[in-house]
Amino acid sequence: MVLGCANVANVSATKRIAVIAGDGIGKEVIPQAVKVIAAAGAAVELTSFDWGADRYLSDRVTVPPDGFATLGRDFEAILVGAFGDPRVPSNIHAKEILLGMRSKMDLYANVRPVRLMDASLCPLKGIEPKDIDFVVIRENTEGVYGDVGGVFKQGTPDEVAIQEDVNTRKGVERIIRYAFEYCASNKKLDGSPRRRVLMCDKSNAMTHAGGLWQRVFKEVAAEHPNSEIETQHMYVDALAMQMVRDPREFDVIVTNNMFGDIISDLAAGLQGGLGMAASGNLRPGYVSMFEPVHGSAPPIAGKNIANPFGAILSVAMMLAHLGMAGEAHKIEAAVLEAVRQKKTTADIGGKLGTREAGEWVAQKISGR
Ligand SMILES: NC(=O)c1ccc[n+]([C@@H]2O[C@H](COP(=O)([O-])OP(=O)(O)OC[C@H]3O[C@@H](n4cnc5c(N)ncnc54)[C@H](O)[C@@H]3O)[C@@H](O)[C@H]2O)c1
Repeated sequence: MVLGCANVANVSATKRIAVIAGDGIGKEVIPQAVKVIAAAGAAVELTSFDWGADRYLSDRVTVPPDGFATLGRDFEAILVGAFGDPRVPSNIHAKEILLGMRSKMDLYANVRPVRLMDASLCPLKGIEPKDIDFVVIRENTEGVYGDVGGVFKQGTPDEVAIQEDVNTRKGVERIIRYAFEYCASNKKLDGSPRRRVLMCDKSNAMTHAGGLWQRVFKEVAAEHPNSEIETQHMYVDALAMQMVRDPREFDVIVTNNMFGDIISDLAAGLQGGLGMAASGNLRPGYVSMFEPVHGSAPPIAGKNIANPFGAILSVAMMLAHLGMAGEAHKIEAAVLEAVRQKKTTADIGGKLGTREAGEWVAQKISGR
């Protein structure tokens, strides 16, 4: 069973993929992911882009003027590493590239599957792989990450900082609709149907935005009266507690940009940490972007110790989305085997370096 997305593109021709490794460990894990694409024999044509801190520091360009238009016009998917570099304290390049891709290209659905490959990776007692198989669907273009707001009287004792939480009916409705479609069209890893969409908010305290999410959730749910899909609501604080107490009860979770960011990292902790988590940034019918959930991890960058599996599993997700389910299966099966045999980096208990773990998976796939 592949880590799915709600829509699958047509299968025919060679797919064109833009590759942006970015900064820090992105530059180490993406070459491993690319190696695995080749080993799986996927019919793709890769084009690398040098966007990131090095480029910004050399010519002050974050995204070239036609950058997003080129990605949208010439590619079926984008594979991204991570952005963030201590030499750019403002993180301006990361904001313009990553948040730019998500919002200017309107990749509104951030899909983060949460799957436990081996019981040893989960910090919770008595949890088996079959117990953790859910997905967080995060609104990716609005909320408090839209950079709306300002600072007043900066540097004085009266300083005021305002960060607005932007929620549009269009934005809320399409992500909730996406979650219902995802639930209806994706199965669990054991082959059973997905059954429940849970909307998570903080509508008891943030009544204006929460009210909109509540109303739209009920409206969209009412469009599925005869389906098998159950609906549920939880406040985000209660959900965080419950995710640690008993993650078995989750299936499809839909939420806003900030809550999705936080709970998907919490969820990554249940599956072995940030090094194991994959994601897709999707807009049905348009180019989509796939990336590991982790950041550029500057303290471990350049040491050949970063776990490449989040990036490799993001590739599996990308290929499945592009209609290459067979190749995606091969990659996931090889990663699963690596985890079982502890052919992994140290963060999940192995002794291999980034390159060696990537190589092991590539060799497993190609049967060498
Ligand atoms: N999508 C992105 O590009 C993205 C996401 C999150 C953070 N960032 C940026 O990355 C930089 C560092 O942020 P951070 O430290 O909060 O988050 P991070 O994900 O880079 O690291 C958090 C922790 O997880 C560990 N970790 C992350 N990925 C790992 C991997 N593949 N293997 C082993 N360990 C791994 C790190 O060593 C660190 O202890 C910042 O500049 C931040 O803005 C970028």
